[in-house]
Amino acid sequence: MLTETAAPAPGTKPLEAGDAGMAGSGIRRLLASIPLRDYRFWIIQFLIVLINIGHLRLEEAQVLGGEWALYLLSISVLLIPVVYSALAFGLAGALPTAVWALVLSLPEISSHTWTIRFGILIQFGIVCAIGIIVGIRVDREAAATREADQANLRLSRLNATAAAVAASLDLERVLRGTLRATLDSRKGQIAWIRTLARPHTSGVTIIDASLAEPPQRLDDVQEALTLAACQSGTLQRDEPGGKDPHTVVVALRSGERTLGAIGITQPEGVIQRDECNVLDAIANQLSVALNNIFDHASTREALSDLAEAKRNLETYIELATEAQEAERKRLSRELHDDVLQSLAVAKAQLDAVSPNGASEDTRGRLLGVQGILAETIGSVRLYCKDLRPSLLDDLGLIDAISWLVSELRSRTALDVAMVVEGPRQRLPERDELLIFRVVQEALRNVERHAEATTVRVGLDFCGDRLTVVIDDDGRGMRLSGESAKDFGDAGLGLRGMDERTKLLKGSLVTQSEPGKGTRIALSVPLPQDD
Ligand SMILES: Nc1ncnc2c1ncn2[C@@H]1O[C@H](COP(=O)(O)OP(=O)(O)OP(=O)(O)O)[C@@H](O)[C@H]1O
Ligand SMILES: [Mg+2]
Repeated sequence: MLTETAAPAPGTKPLEAGDAGMAGSGIRRLLASIPLRDYRFWIIQFLIVLINIGHLRLEEAQVLGGEWALYLLSISVLLIPVVYSALAFGLAGALPTAVWALVLSLPEISSHTWTIRFGILIQFGIVCAIGIIVGIRVDREAAATREADQANLRLSRLNATAAAVAASLDLERVLRGTLRATLDSRKGQIAWIRTLARPHTSGVTIIDASLAEPPQRLDDVQEALTLAACQSGTLQRDEPGGKDPHTVVVALRSGERTLGAIGITQPEGVIQRDECNVLDAIANQLSVALNNIFDHASTREALSDLAEAKRNLETYIELATEAQEAERKRLSRELHDDVLQSLAVAKAQLDAVSPNGASEDTRGRLLGVQGILAETIGSVRLYCKDLRPSLLDDLGLIDAISWLVSELRSRTALDVAMVVEGPRQRLPERDELLIFRVVQEALRNVERHAEATTVRVGLDFCGDRLTVVIDDDGRGMRLSGESAKDFGDAGLGLRGMDERTKLLKGSLVTQSEPGKGTRIALSVPLPQDD
């Protein structure tokens, strides 16, 4: 539906002389449309002259005599050019042809008696009436055909606009395509689209013209109407009376929002009502497309923010993991070099104390403290290795995992086995540490949660990948997806395994079902020899 508002625009145009002719009386219109430039029209008029000459000759030769039937037949022959003219040119052809035939016959008619004149005139009247009826019918059909052609043209312009707006999500391309489809190529139209600035797109004005070079900027009337359409969200035109506009601007709307405006100027001739309807339909299509483009721009912006946040998070996790490992290393070294050494010295000194002469109670206490010291030294050693196994630095991943396995075996009643397959090879220090931490957490989870009896740790150096599998026959768990972190109650352990896998550019698959044990498979790319 068009919502129309009288334009508050300056420079309202008066009616032009040509428009007055178009809107003039029916007779003037008819006279103006006589096909004087069409050669067929003149052939028809010449045929009438020939018929007239023939008729005169027959009369001179007194062939017709008193035979009325023959006499009227020669007048009826005039039906042929009159009807032909009506079929070819409509009323504008039939009427002048009939009048021309009558004019040519007037001298001859006047030579007859009143009774004969009356009969001939009736005959002419019938010829004229047939010509007018056929002419009017032809005119109506031509008008209907023209209307159908116009409708087809409007439809094809709407189709072209629909194709232009659906072709791309690029704002400028859509605007240019829509303008091209909007412009009626037969008229010297100027069309433009203005979009208002939005959060992720700036406002633009694009101008195009059907016949000439498009102007660089809008003139005062176009500018004022466009501003008014953008502000009010309604249709604007340069004729406050609303009858004969040369410029029409339709607002581009999406719900309550005004996205911009599309306008058209037709310097020659007024913009008809149906043209306004086409512009309104184009504006509706364009509004939907603009909405999509603006939404797409915001989504793209949001996605790029999200991608950046993800990148930042990954960098942060990598740095945090490195910092954690550095801190563990420092703690392990301090525990080893400082605390462990002091404990060892204290134990050695205590071992050197001779219990001879001491009371039974003192001896018992001495032995107790020695035992506690030995135990503490053992625990601190374990913590040191746990924090940063020197085996990993010295002998590599396989020995470090093997130490983890034997440590677990000695500490628990678990049946723990380890299998290594494929040609063994060393990985970069950082990667070995990350893999070690994943296996360490997996075994710790088996010990703490699985209630398993057997655990298998497998390392398979196969092709360009290392696959590490930790398999237990414990109580298992319920997973919602493939990743370890898909487990609903995932603590830091499973999440840490997942993040470390990402840093390794590998994959981690956790398979588990309640009562059916758990299998964790880590696969990482092996370094390739160049
Ligand atoms: N091998 C396993 N068998 C059975 N359940 C397991 C196994 N591994 C993990 N789970 C379950 O998954 C949960 C999450 O493990 P995760 O390692 O993330 O956290 P956590 O071990 O509880 O705490 P932490 O943060 O100290 O590691 C565990 O609480 C446990 O219920
Ligand atoms: Mg854990």
